[in-house]
Amino acid sequence: MRAQTDKRLAGAVPILLIGFMGAGKSSVGHALAHELRCDFIDLDVVVERLAGKPIAEIFKTLGEPAFRKLEAEALDEVLSRAGSCVVALGGGAFVQPANRERIARSAGRVVFLEVSFEEALRRIGEAGGARPLAASRELLEKLFQQRESVYRQAHFRTDTTNKSVAEVAGEVAAWLREQEYQ
Ligand code: S3P
Repeated sequence: MRAQTDKRLAGAVPILLIGFMGAGKSSVGHALAHELRCDFIDLDVVVERLAGKPIAEIFKTLGEPAFRKLEAEALDEVLSRAGSCVVALGGGAFVQPANRERIARSAGRVVFLEVSFEEALRRIGEAGGARPLAASRELLEKLFQQRESVYRQAHFRTDTTNKSVAEVAGEVAAWLREQEYQ
């Protein structure tokens, strides 16, 4: 029964994970795709492939507006590709109105992975400082506050702060199953 549910869900419409840097979008995305037995795509990786350089390098040499253009292009590519199943978006992707329109047209299900600011800071710190927008606590806090209400437009949200990756992935999968039977 469950395998059948997963098969019906997987790949029918993309499941898009959004949230702030450090929310666990990539880790949860991997686990969720594994649970649904479908493909996982990290949008930042698609951007890096399009640009032929790492995100930090894109910001440094081309600037943020060029990064956002590449990100929009990458999102178009991913949304138009059959079999894009679980997609982790970079923290700023859903904040761009044009990207939200793209996503609405795709009928994708948007899942907001919430995280407290202090926990996001801790996780960002642990990742070793590769994120270009994580240069200062002040900038991060401003972005965090500005983005919160936009992220809340998601179809479903869950707080990841004190949960394991497996727990969060399980919650999202359970919500998806519920949706299927409503
Ligand atoms: C960004 C988040 C990053 C990456 C880029 C910009 C943002 O992705 O897309 O550095 O604007 O919040 P993660 O959220 O996966 O760190």
